[in-house]
Amino acid sequence: QEPYRVGGKSFTAVAINTAAKAGEWIKSRVGEIRRVDVKYSSHDLVTEVDKGSEKMIRNLILTHFPHHAFLGEEGVEPGPEASAAALENVSDAEYLWIVDPIDGTTNFIHGFPFFSVSIALAYKGEVIVGVVYDPMRDELFVAEKGKGAYLKAAKLGVSGESALSESLVGTGFPADREGALPINLAGINALMPKVRNLRNAGSAALHLAYVAAGRLSGFYEIGLNAWDIAAGALLVQESGGRVTDTAGQPYTLGVRNVMATNGLIHEELQNELQQAGATGL
Ligand code: IPD
Ligand code: CA
Ligand code: CA
Ligand code: CA
Repeated sequence: QEPYRVGGKSFTAVAINTAAKAGEWIKSRVGEIRRVDVKYSSHDLVTEVDKGSEKMIRNLILTHFPHHAFLGEEGVEPGPEASAAALENVSDAEYLWIVDPIDGTTNFIHGFPFFSVSIALAYKGEVIVGVVYDPMRDELFVAEKGKGAYLKAAKLGVSGESALSESLVGTGFPADREGALPINLAGINALMPKVRNLRNAGSAALHLAYVAAGRLSGFYEIGLNAWDIAAGALLVQESGGRVTDTAGQPYTLGVRNVMATNGLIHEELQNELQQAGATGL
């Protein structure tokens, strides 16, 4: 059976429509947030819009595909152990939807217009559909395994920089300020003199989409979760780029320290992180 459809329903169409609906609602709530709750640490935040978006996405997807498994950030207890356990729990699922209902919650809270909805579908542990939607720019990035990645009608392709010295590299400042952040800062210190420049705009999924679109030469971050990475990783792969962990091992759903590039700068970036001792916890 073709893994992309059941009973004539296209998984990709459902992913696209769902991301668009959730994104539209999130956009309508910018500037309307009165209450912010703290999760694992004082830097790990959640609003009723994160929860509402996840509920909407879950309902829409499970209405179409009631027998599929669903892993969403806000359905998991905060913290790295619970995240790993939640992923382990669904590791047997044939079809698994992996969802970040708002990637870039801090930006959303402040009205900084860079956040996204990330929806991925994995078949037997491998991502086959990835959608990242930026509602503020109305940019919907979509990839299907083996079929390329697109932004509207335009086929996406990674950038052509072949050295870090001419590269724009994205990263993030992890919410885990004791564990992951100091490692990432060591990496930033080492990379800063080598790259054209670094960017952290605050949404890992959108950074990955930007690597796919050739707007960033590469991206890496320490201590992410499956829902931050899954959809964006397929976007990068389907755009001709390369995705591994920061030690250079192949991407799987369990990867938390991710490196995604145009392929050309992959080894140089990996070497720099390795030398700086900045590949992870
Ligand atoms: C966060 C964003 C941010 C990254 C953090 C993530 P959230 O996700 O992707 O860019 O630096 O590590 O936790 O919590 O806004 O979904
Ligand atoms: Ca979060
Ligand atoms: Ca996230
Ligand atoms: Ca989130």
